Amino acid sequence: MASVTSLTASVHQRLANALSAALPEAAAADPLLRRSDRADFQANGILALAKKAKANPRELAAQVVERVVTGDVIGDIEVSGPGFLNITVTDKAIIENLSARVTDPAARLGVPHADHPGTTVIDYAQPNVAKEMHVGHLRSAVIGDAVVQLLEFTGETVVRRHHIGDWGTQFGMLIQYLDEHPHELDHRAGEVSGEEAMSNLDRLYKAARRKFDSDEEFKTRARRRVVDLQAGDPHTLAMWQKFVDESKIYFFSVFEKLDMEIRDADIVGESGYNDMLAETCRLLEESGVAVRSEGALCVFFDDILGPDGNKVPLIVQKSDGGYGYAATDLSAIRDRVFSLKADTLLYVVDARQSLHFKMVFETARRAGWLGADVKAQQLAFGTVLGKDGKPFKTREGETVRLVDLLDEAIDRASAVVREKARDLSEQEIAERGAQVGIGAVKYADLSTSASRDYKFDLDQMVSLNGDTSVYLQYAYARTQSIQRKAGEVRPVAHPELELSPAERALGLHADQFAETVAEAAAEYAPHKLTAYLYQLASLFTTFYDKCPVLKAETPEQVENRLFLTDATGRTLRQGMALLGIQAPERL
Ligand code: ARG
Repeated sequence: MASVTSLTASVHQRLANALSAALPEAAAADPLLRRSDRADFQANGILALAKKAKANPRELAAQVVERVVTGDVIGDIEVSGPGFLNITVTDKAIIENLSARVTDPAARLGVPHADHPGTTVIDYAQPNVAKEMHVGHLRSAVIGDAVVQLLEFTGETVVRRHHIGDWGTQFGMLIQYLDEHPHELDHRAGEVSGEEAMSNLDRLYKAARRKFDSDEEFKTRARRRVVDLQAGDPHTLAMWQKFVDESKIYFFSVFEKLDMEIRDADIVGESGYNDMLAETCRLLEESGVAVRSEGALCVFFDDILGPDGNKVPLIVQKSDGGYGYAATDLSAIRDRVFSLKADTLLYVVDARQSLHFKMVFETARRAGWLGADVKAQQLAFGTVLGKDGKPFKTREGETVRLVDLLDEAIDRASAVVREKARDLSEQEIAERGAQVGIGAVKYADLSTSASRDYKFDLDQMVSLNGDTSVYLQYAYARTQSIQRKAGEVRPVAHPELELSPAERALGLHADQFAETVAEAAAEYAPHKLTAYLYQLASLFTTFYDKCPVLKAETPEQVENRLFLTDATGRTLRQGMALLGIQAPERL
């Protein structure tokens, strides 16, 4: 058995047993246990239960105390206030439990797998072909990647889908222009950097746009290209493929900078559903889910009204026969449910697309593609704001290039690392600078709940003392440096020792890792894990200030404190890995 029952769960179980012995009708009741400052835990559930049973709460609490099993896990339990229970666990239980986590043969710190894992298809990191990536794409990638790691860690089968914008009328103009200037993207794979690829695309895009806006005949040729593309004309498709390939060079360079694994096979963009679009529309129309309205194929909803009070439809096919974003997303749902066998569909997409997904999901439900056994959810994220609280833009009012932002974060982080560095070489400073800078960007994004807007503030992000990844990274590096200094002395758990308050607090919190991971995964809430890790790093800092490790009084105490240090380090490293944040051994 690799999974380790947490102290919280053990205390909970003992209380529940005592409670049902004292009050049989409360057999399934929740004692409402939580961590507390007064004791280790406080249970507040007795009050409501006593009220319901018309009993005196303090008396009921006393009866529970009488019946509760103590000595092994629970060291002390007493009634307080109107009928609360204050519970202290034994020092021995803290160390033994943590020791079981550290020695978990599966190296999972005793974190169990979910009881009923399923298959989740997650749609995230979806930039657009021939376009620069911006902060919105950053959020989707960072949040999506953390959710993928969390889910996989709980045993869920996760299928990644990068729904890139690689289809649509804008390609007519690009393809036509490239066809008329065939040498523009003439290079072999591997010959250009991501940066160069993007600047090639940008140049082409601007030139094509200029021509499109000024030359009516070109416009006509470009429009004809869209038709050729949708009809699958081989030459047109080959041209289109060049844009996709060039863009992928750029995308992969950004994802690499972000220290994120994105696999080519998981990139299934809008074009990937092209063959399904006509059928999707036919099925919707035949079943009556969609109706023709002024030539367009539309789905209507009673509760979705525009500003003028009229119903806003979801347009699946335009009156000119063209298919839109909705047709693609509906086809993708069919693919994800029926071919990939998903029982959960997740979409890590900007909150500004929430209405779209609401309508798409409802349409798919009506069509029978999303049954009661399939969950579909948009993990909507808020807007990235500048320091001034307004949507993040350059001074000229343009969207900020993601690459510039990442480079700046790395620069700032390198400066911080350099300032603190004593024994690091230039190369190490550069390496750590990237790990700290990218970690900082990810952490800032993950540490507020996704649905909220957040301020992109590099000064705050790389601060050593705030709620930042650098703070976690330094705490982790300290756990490692202590162990290096310990030399031959190894961490050994000594459950027989009495613990100081700082040791208890650290040990108890470290024991909460499994519950935190389970909760963060179940709720798709990486911010719960960041908050937990920040607290862990803070408790470790206090422990380190208050409890000398290598200079502790007895050899057993040295070993035991090394053990706490080691357990903290492992927990920090595992937690950060789930968030996509590197934990360098030295900083
Ligand atoms: N490419 C889109 C954008 O840049 C995001 C795609 C979201 N996913 C989806 N299945 N619609 O905004």
